[in-house]
Amino acid sequence: HYLSGNEIRALFLDFYAQRGHQILPSASLVPEDPTVLLTIAGMLPFKPIFLGQRTPEFKRATTSQKCIRTNDIENVGRTKRHHTFFEMLGNFSFGDYFKEQAIAWGWEISTTVFKLPPERLVVSVYEEDDEAYAIWRDKIGVSEKRIKRMGAEDNFWNSGPTGPCGPCSEIYYDFHPERGNDNIDLEDDTRFIEFYNLVFMQYNRDAEGNLTPLANKNIDTGMGLERMAQILQSVPNNYETDLIFPIIKKAAEIAGIEYHKSDEKNQVSLKIIGDHTRAVVHMIADEIRASNVGRGYVLRRLIRRLVRHGRLIGIYRKDVTCNVFTPQVAEVAISLAEDAYPNLRQRENSIKAELQREESRFLQTLERGEKLLEEIIAQVKQQGKTQINGEDAFTLFDTYGFPLELTQEIAQENNLTIDVAGFDAEMEKQRQRARKAHETIDLTVQGSLDKLAEHIHATEFLGYAQPTATAKVE
Ligand code: SER
Repeated sequence: HYLSGNEIRALFLDFYAQRGHQILPSASLVPEDPTVLLTIAGMLPFKPIFLGQRTPEFKRATTSQKCIRTNDIENVGRTKRHHTFFEMLGNFSFGDYFKEQAIAWGWEISTTVFKLPPERLVVSVYEEDDEAYAIWRDKIGVSEKRIKRMGAEDNFWNSGPTGPCGPCSEIYYDFHPERGNDNIDLEDDTRFIEFYNLVFMQYNRDAEGNLTPLANKNIDTGMGLERMAQILQSVPNNYETDLIFPIIKKAAEIAGIEYHKSDEKNQVSLKIIGDHTRAVVHMIADEIRASNVGRGYVLRRLIRRLVRHGRLIGIYRKDVTCNVFTPQVAEVAISLAEDAYPNLRQRENSIKAELQREESRFLQTLERGEKLLEEIIAQVKQQGKTQINGEDAFTLFDTYGFPLELTQEIAQENNLTIDVAGFDAEMEKQRQRARKAHETIDLTVQGSLDKLAEHIHATEFLGYAQPTATAKVE
């Protein structure tokens, strides 16, 4: 039952509109909520309503919310289903319907609108939630073998260390029902994909970790648009859906390669390009500008990762004659999403200009790094040595944005090796310094950004003009 990404989005909103939900536009990626850096979930714009701080205009709402999450950035392109940018389809009840109705509609839309065969669905409930378990078993008729109780990590949802939260129930799709009901392991992503999360939002968690009931019992749900598209389009991963693949094709075309004929490494780079292009396009459309602080810093790093992976697939090779490629892939991303997000076309010029500027600037930084590396190599050879020391490799990484593997690659071409242990030691020192700097920052405010700063810093390509690695609070 093939459906395009745009059809899935429209059908979801329509289903809930028919059931009394107001369709609301996606909120900006820049949240009103000052405690988070970027919009990470469909519920975020409604947080004040859940907390009773704002009276809702409507008791029921439905949205397709653009989201950015950076906590999974290392998985992007490497698993079938992780993104920095994704769209979350959601239906919300503000003190109106609750558990039983949310489960019933969740099942109905999955099995009738999206026509997923019931025997291919598995559901999970929070281990203590006997009520949800009983609804699935008795009202919906799901076999007990296909209802799994899971712990708080999987089935108790919160948007952060404090704030509205509650037990949840998730619906999974089974790609391999022939493997039977006796050994269902929902962590096995070769077999299952979680596509719909129903959160029974009924508590508030305070800074001490205490849960108090909210004034209302609410519903917050999230269906991953890209995941549903993967299921309905029968493609092996989210990146090959019609929501992202045209961007990948464009990047491959610029590099003169083909995705399906590429090795694993190039495929990963292409998937990262597909993901990050969407992220940066939407971020700039929401008026975020590349900088060294806050969300601007997230944007800058995503653009640099784009450039880096563009480089890995050969986009700047001499025979390709491409000076900048990000505006070209951005154009594809805009055309794919402009119907649902009209601000993309409206801000087309600033999106492309910002990308062009950042890409060229970063390429220059990279060139300077290459010059420095040449000098280092000449020196090492002159001294009759065969190894570049860890400190030099780290300076290249830290100040010029050279990931270790790039330095290694160039060193190898010159029959040299890198003192990786020395590099790691420098990295550790840097991390200690960063940790010290972080101690004064409230992690609840900066959680995702700090994670990004540490993670990318530890494993990926960076390159920032100033060697201060830590993100600053806006
Ligand atoms: N807030 C929940 C999630 O992000 C459901 O929308 O999964």
